[in-house]
Amino acid sequence: MTGTSCDGLDLAYIETNGTDIMAMGPSQIIPFEPKYRKILLERILLRVPSHFADAELSKTIANFHSHHIKNFIHQNQLTVDAIGFHGQAVWHDPTNELTVQLGDCQHLANLTGIKVVGQVRQNDVKNGGQGAPLVPIYHLALAAKLKKPTAFLNIGGVSNITFINADETLIAGDTGPGNALIDDWVERHTGIPQDTDGRYAAQGTINQKFLDKWLQHPFFTETFPKSLDRLKFHHMLDECSVLTLEDGAATLTEFTVKAIIKGLDMLPEQPNQLIICGGGCHNPTLMNGLRQYFKNLVSASDIGFDSDAIEAQLMGYLAARFFEKLPSSFPTTTGVKSPTIAGELFLPEFI
Ligand SMILES: Nc1ncnc2c1ncn2[C@@H]1O[C@H](COP(=O)(O)OP(=O)(O)O)[C@@H](O)[C@H]1O
Ligand SMILES: [Mg+2]
Repeated sequence: MTGTSCDGLDLAYIETNGTDIMAMGPSQIIPFEPKYRKILLERILLRVPSHFADAELSKTIANFHSHHIKNFIHQNQLTVDAIGFHGQAVWHDPTNELTVQLGDCQHLANLTGIKVVGQVRQNDVKNGGQGAPLVPIYHLALAAKLKKPTAFLNIGGVSNITFINADETLIAGDTGPGNALIDDWVERHTGIPQDTDGRYAAQGTINQKFLDKWLQHPFFTETFPKSLDRLKFHHMLDECSVLTLEDGAATLTEFTVKAIIKGLDMLPEQPNQLIICGGGCHNPTLMNGLRQYFKNLVSASDIGFDSDAIEAQLMGYLAARFFEKLPSSFPTTTGVKSPTIAGELFLPEFI
């Protein structure tokens, strides 16, 4: 899994029949080299949906994945039936039936000699869905023993929520920005692509005028399910340019918090607890901000999950569901017309 934060590649091993989780194995994050990250971000900022012009970058991405997947398998002495491969999201515009994840699935299968289930968002979008989020079905599996209603909040490049009702029905969608706005703001000023431990935001003052204005964005009145492109709120970085690094970080962090709270307010009832996963749970300023509005908040790691590996585990889970012909997205999670199987199979070709 590589998310919209463009921070690195997440690898995880999972044993599953696509319904139950039999075992969760090792996981690892491979941080992107700055040069590689720059190439990916430049491609995102191009804002061109074309898939075909990117054959070379798609091969490069497959080469990168293959190298690290082979090392991961070797180092952990794993036997692997299939790879669930997300690819690098560079364009997400489901209203125009477009979502583009770069990464040559066939090349990855050939290089590793392992079956690949890839292009996991395409069937959903073709069937009228948002193509995102796909993680709710995996959150449901993780929540098997938890008291309902409960909710998971993934704070990646964008933030998305999964609400699991007492009868196990799901409601899901993106809530607004996650780390990406904060990352890009701090990178502009310092060259470092994250506000490590939320330190800059903690030293700044929130600009209430900007915050009130941004929260009027029509996205926040749309009902679930809904999804976002990484750059949806990017223009706010330019508005922030009159602020100091610290005040901008504080304002963007609070914007992220308030957007999440608006999402929570849209749920049919408040969950017993909010389980936080993704990189955002390492940012204490963001977490403390959320806690001001929602008290019963835990990090997924606090209750026995590997909060940084959940989305990579999901890719394996989706692959298993593909082989079992089980749907992975639903009208209430992505707005898809009918429950839909995620992914396409790529078999290794031995030449
Ligand atoms: N110690 C930390 N302090 C602040 N932010 C952090 C920290 N560790 C990780 N992050 C944030 O988490 C992001 C990565 O989160 P991740 O869940 O991998 O997102 P994605 O799925 O979009 O790749 C980083 O870009 C960074 O913003
Ligand atoms: Mg990541």
